[in-house]
Amino acid sequence: MRRRRAAAAGVLAAFLLGSVLAALLAPGSEPGPGPAELARRIRARYDEVQRFARGRPERRRLMDLALAPAGHAGPGPRLGCAALRNVSGAQYVGSGYTKAVYRARLPGGAAVALKAVDFGGHDLGSCVREFGARRGCYRLAAHKLLKEMVLLQRLRHPNVLQLYGYCYQDSDDIPNTLTTITELGAPVEMLQLLQAAWEDRFRICLSLGRLLYHLAHSPLGSVTLLDFRPRQFVLVDGELKVTDLDDARVDETPCASSADCTLEFPARNFSLACSAQGRCQGMNEKRNLYNAYRFFFTYLLPHSAPPSLRPLLDRIVNATGELAWGAAETLAQLETVLHLYRSGQYLQDSAQPRASEYRRLDSRAVPDEDYRCWPSYRHDGCLLSVFDVAEAARVCDGHAQCRAFVLTNQTTWTGRQLVFFKTGWNHVVPDANKTTYVRASG
Ligand SMILES: Nc1ncnc2c1ncn2[C@@H]1O[C@H](COP(=O)(O)OP(=O)(O)O)[C@@H](O)[C@H]1O
Ligand SMILES: *[C@@H]1O[C@H](CO)[C@@H](O)[C@H](O)[C@H]1NC(C)=O
Ligand SMILES: *[C@@H]1O[C@H](CO)[C@@H](O)[C@H](O)[C@H]1NC(C)=O
Ligand SMILES: *[C@@H]1O[C@H](CO)[C@@H](O)[C@H](O)[C@H]1NC(C)=O
Ligand SMILES: *[C@@H]1O[C@H](CO)[C@@H](O)[C@H](O)[C@H]1NC(C)=O
Ligand SMILES: *[C@@H]1O[C@H](CO)[C@@H](O)[C@H](O)[C@H]1NC(C)=O
Ligand SMILES: [Mg+2]
Repeated sequence: MRRRRAAAAGVLAAFLLGSVLAALLAPGSEPGPGPAELARRIRARYDEVQRFARGRPERRRLMDLALAPAGHAGPGPRLGCAALRNVSGAQYVGSGYTKAVYRARLPGGAAVALKAVDFGGHDLGSCVREFGARRGCYRLAAHKLLKEMVLLQRLRHPNVLQLYGYCYQDSDDIPNTLTTITELGAPVEMLQLLQAAWEDRFRICLSLGRLLYHLAHSPLGSVTLLDFRPRQFVLVDGELKVTDLDDARVDETPCASSADCTLEFPARNFSLACSAQGRCQGMNEKRNLYNAYRFFFTYLLPHSAPPSLRPLLDRIVNATGELAWGAAETLAQLETVLHLYRSGQYLQDSAQPRASEYRRLDSRAVPDEDYRCWPSYRHDGCLLSVFDVAEAARVCDGHAQCRAFVLTNQTTWTGRQLVFFKTGWNHVVPDANKTTYVRASG
């Protein structure tokens, strides 16, 4: 299924580079967009998209896929539109400056996101006010969507939103409107994340570390995201993925001297070197890293982390905030944290008090007798992840209300076991998938 989808996306991208570009851009394919300045802007965007799409080995692979026999190669671009005619339950999920995003269910039942130019959006609106040319303005905005589609395809990675296809068809008054079909995510809600378990917040930061490493070493060169706010990302099964690539840039800033290489942020400016080739060195990578620090790491990494990991996490926050490390070092340090956490080594490092005695009740659960704790995986009870039974016992000892805990068969993304903590065990029931531990003394 997954391979088919990837193949389909490859085919779509190949067609895209041919037919869609041609149709969107060919002079005379529709009435002219109006003012020369608007035409110039469309041309500039077209050139940019073409540069991302052109001439690399990947392009050839895409062409090979496109030419492969039908059935093996998967559906062509028409299916994108056919799928759209058949969707059910389309629902608005969000919009930004340029695009509106909808969720919809495909005939097979899979939920996807549909992205299109937002006809009521700021981007189209301000262009129409400036040029009074609705079709030309649509084409200008559609080139952002096109750029994003080409980048999603060329930058494929677990932390880049997956492109499933696109549909290119006439709508009410505008010919050749473009809709992209992508993986569905959930908008990033920072307030919600701040209340999430450290383990889940760390996952976001690790996702980001992996993404930034990939962007710094991409087949297109070092890619920077000029607009890095959390709303340009979505969560897919707890993983962070970048969805908005309109404002991605590849070329490093040209310079005559280091005076041209100031990286400016509201709270801090950095001076970078100008290379002999006349480019600001590593500016793309560093911009991403500082943005990751100021929008994500500083809020999500340190607080309520396991105490023994704090020094390492504080170093990561500090080093990214000072731009002392590149993406490779930052990622290596984040992976080290993951290893220490997942392997339980973070527990051995700290002085552990001896836990009380707990009696084991196999295949038993305590359905009620809940209390609340923070940050819990359930709002109506205390559900936390632990490395092992010994850690669960120490957590229970640390909670004044806790008299028992129930090990479940569920695990978190790192493989840690989820455990319910309970105020007592007055009512115990059989449950093959659970093991209850009750405090022996007191
Ligand atoms: N795949 C997706 N799944 C769910 N929501 C999404 C998805 N992509 C984007 N969104 C939501 O839609 C908003 C607008 O999408 P975005 O690509 O950022 O458009 P714009 O270029 O207009 O900013 C995002 O801020 C995000 O909340
Ligand atoms: C839905 O799609 C299937 C093929 O995917 C097609 O046979 C069917 O006619 C479509 N239904 C509608 C209402 O378009
Ligand atoms: C950063 O540089 C700009 C332009 O040189 C300047 O206006 C601003 O005050 C500087 N900001 C900080 C925090 O130093
Ligand atoms: C990093 O640590 C140094 C030394 O403690 C401190 O002066 C600096 O403000 C820190 N920087 C950031 C971005 O946290
Ligand atoms: C135990 O887990 C299995 C597999 O996850 C599930 O099918 C079964 O219903 C569970 N049993 C109980 C009693 O919850
Ligand atoms: C669930 O975990 C218990 C131990 O707590 C184990 O004996 C049982 O086989 C597990 N069940 C499943 C379905 O994995
Ligand atoms: Mg956006």
